[in-house]
Amino acid sequence: MSNVNYLFPLPLYKSQVNTQQFSVLSNAAEYFTEQSREHFLNGLNIHNGQSNTGWHSEFYRISDETPSQINDLFHIASTHLREFIKQIIRNDERAIGFGDFDLSLETHEMGWAIINLPGDVAFSHIHTTIYRDTYACVLYLQVPDGCKGGELRLANPDIGFRSSIGTTMAQLGLCTTYRKIKPETGNILIFPGTLPHDVLPFEAKGHRIAFACNFGIKSMSLSYLKDGCSICKQIY
Ligand SMILES: [Fe+2]
Repeated sequence: MSNVNYLFPLPLYKSQVNTQQFSVLSNAAEYFTEQSREHFLNGLNIHNGQSNTGWHSEFYRISDETPSQINDLFHIASTHLREFIKQIIRNDERAIGFGDFDLSLETHEMGWAIINLPGDVAFSHIHTTIYRDTYACVLYLQVPDGCKGGELRLANPDIGFRSSIGTTMAQLGLCTTYRKIKPETGNILIFPGTLPHDVLPFEAKGHRIAFACNFGIKSMSLSYLKDGCSICKQIY
């Protein structure tokens, strides 16, 4: 089953971690909670300018010096990124008939954690890296029970279309101005970093912890497996 949907029309990947990985998420949530407590006690409150409140961690890379809880999150996110890209290729009609393939992917990744309290928001923004193709990923480590609101809201990047809400297309839901995605513990979302998005306030008892990361695509190549191209076989 494909996890890829097309919005505006850009690809959006929505999936969830497997049962065993929930403990990875809760370990990381505990680590970030402790980090935020230490920062608070030391009088530090780190913001990146995109959130009005809440706690924003330092930036992380995959490395031997990075705490294992965070490297584990990167590993989960990169596995889903590979799946996302493979599904996009399979969904591309130009790839139909070209058989199974191996994907070689080299990325530059950077991640951070965010802890939000009820009422917190993130203003509209995009994610960029020095690489032309950048994918943004959000992994929800902890969403309070009974959380109302708090959706990630993706905006149609066609600003002209956004200002013309009420057209037949929008009414039919074929091409909307915004698409809201409700956060749930264990969910993972990946989308092109150039897609403008914000985060709406939520109501709940407790706080929400998310891990976000950017993947800049340094290089990507496909190699078709031995069965090769079924269409070519039919022709030749
Ligand atoms: Fe973002």
